[in-house]
Amino acid sequence: MGEAASIPDEPLPRATQRLGSDPDSVRRAAGILAGGGLVAFPTETVYGLGADGRDAAAVAALYAAKGRPRFNPLIAHLPTLDAARGEAVFGPDALALAEAFWPGPLTLVLPAPPGCSVCDLARAGLASVAIRVPSHPLARAILEAAATPVVAPSANRSGRVSPTEAGHVLADLDGRIDAVLDGGTTRVGVESTIVGCLGGDPVLLRPGGVPREALERVLGRPLAADSPDGVVPIAPGRLASHYAPKAAVRLNATDIRPGEAALLFGGALPGAGNAEAALDLSPARSLAEAAANLFGYLRRLDAGGAAVIAVAPIPEAGLGEAINDRLRRAAADR
Ligand code: TXA
Ligand code: MG
Repeated sequence: MGEAASIPDEPLPRATQRLGSDPDSVRRAAGILAGGGLVAFPTETVYGLGADGRDAAAVAALYAAKGRPRFNPLIAHLPTLDAARGEAVFGPDALALAEAFWPGPLTLVLPAPPGCSVCDLARAGLASVAIRVPSHPLARAILEAAATPVVAPSANRSGRVSPTEAGHVLADLDGRIDAVLDGGTTRVGVESTIVGCLGGDPVLLRPGGVPREALERVLGRPLAADSPDGVVPIAPGRLASHYAPKAAVRLNATDIRPGEAALLFGGALPGAGNAEAALDLSPARSLAEAAANLFGYLRRLDAGGAAVIAVAPIPEAGLGEAINDRLRRAAADR
């Protein structure tokens, strides 16, 4: 695929309004979305950049604002399972997962019915559609007021670390979007878990805020693995290098070398005294706390200008699977 076909042009500048979490801000956000504009808002996982999913011109502007390749489809956000049923086909597994985990940090990739109103551009021309019902009260208020599927990728420039505060959104997108609603720091801190239910066993497409173990308990069987590289690119957004800080990232560090910044978990490592800067994701070794701090701490250490961020080992169980997935992408060759 040629560069020109996949990378959108630089967008025209936009004045970015700072809005709050009051009813008037919600009304204004819904009005901007209805007019084809771009609004960033908090969800319980990370901040999303919203556009009306039925409006192809708004969706094109969203891809341009993020610098996102157009072959990477978007998640449509809806206020309730009932509203979602009009936009996707729910088989028994999908329904069981939706009933157990919505509203919450789970996205389902489902067959798109003929009446699906999420435009082709937002679905990257696929026969499926990704749907999420978030639990954050401000996100839910905006979705109720907008009364349309709101497509919302994470509100960062493509390839960068996802935003967990309104200030992170502005650092990446000020002047490129119409508004950001400030709802404070997001609770979960890593993006939603994505499960494909397209026939056969449900497939884990992206680990995230709902741990695998919880999904498998509801399904009563293991999730299938995502297809190996190059067979079927079901989750085209799962590019190897992603969440990229400017610094190089050294994983599973058992010591800290002179000049490195340290991202710790559960206390100091040998040589921690050498660190230019050090932040502990969770001194008490809580994976939920570590997930909530992950992206903000990566941004803070990166802003310090160290050439290398050394990251302590993090257990792979529960939310650790999503944390380690994001860290591996942050460390991948660019
Ligand atoms: O927590 C989240 O999921 C956040 C908040 C804002 O909701 N959103 C988010 O969106 O992380 P984004 O665009 O950064 O990641 C969406 C992922 C991409 O990897 C994309 O490829 C995948 O969802 N996706 C979307 N539609 C798909 C489809 N039809 N089939 C497979 N993967 C799909
Ligand atoms: Mg993203």
